[in-house]
Amino acid sequence: MKTTLVGLSGSLRRDSFNTRLLHASQRLCPDGTTLDIQSIESVPLYNFDVENADGIPTAVTDLKEKIASADGLLIATPEYNNSIPGVLKNAIDWLSRPADDISRVFGEQPVAIIGATPGGFGTMLAQNAWLPIMRTLGTRMWTGGRLMVPHAGQLFDDAGNLNDGTIEKRLESFLAGFVEFVEATKVEQ
Ligand code: FNR
Repeated sequence: MKTTLVGLSGSLRRDSFNTRLLHASQRLCPDGTTLDIQSIESVPLYNFDVENADGIPTAVTDLKEKIASADGLLIATPEYNNSIPGVLKNAIDWLSRPADDISRVFGEQPVAIIGATPGGFGTMLAQNAWLPIMRTLGTRMWTGGRLMVPHAGQLFDDAGNLNDGTIEKRLESFLAGFVEFVEATKVEQ
């Protein structure tokens, strides 16, 4: 079965560990699965006045269509101040507009969350903090596995490639579980 995922990183940083984790995910996805990493860099700050006057920005509508037509969404989240990064929350807020489009873009959409940090707790609190947001949007959160990547500064080589065998195995197994869930969801629908 051909399965398509969209990947969103919650960091704009060029050498982001979370974006690197998505790149590693592209390599470690099960056969037949493609992961399309999309940037949130062009998404402006949410402002209702702008939405009211100009509608939804093109960068947002393009991303909405990519998510709506994918089979699943993989989020790699940094943790900021024990919670979610504002840039990704801002993007998700735009992506949830207009509200009557939420079910088309996010409704029943399989979602999995991973995260990396140079700190010791692996983005646990950020991942937890995404849960009520994903519930509000009506997604199907995959909770069959968890991947928290601590000490990320030691896991990537100079070119930015994941080079830690233990995390690679855990990421590969996480992705296999998520893709199995995504494919079961497709059959069900
Ligand atoms: C951080 N960082 C951080 N790390 C963590 O594990 N828990 C936290 O609560 C925070 N808080 C936090 C706040 C702010 C404002 C910044 C800028 C950073 C460190 C963070 O994990 C680190 O900068 C990562 O490298 C961010 O992810 P990317 O950019 O590498 O993907």
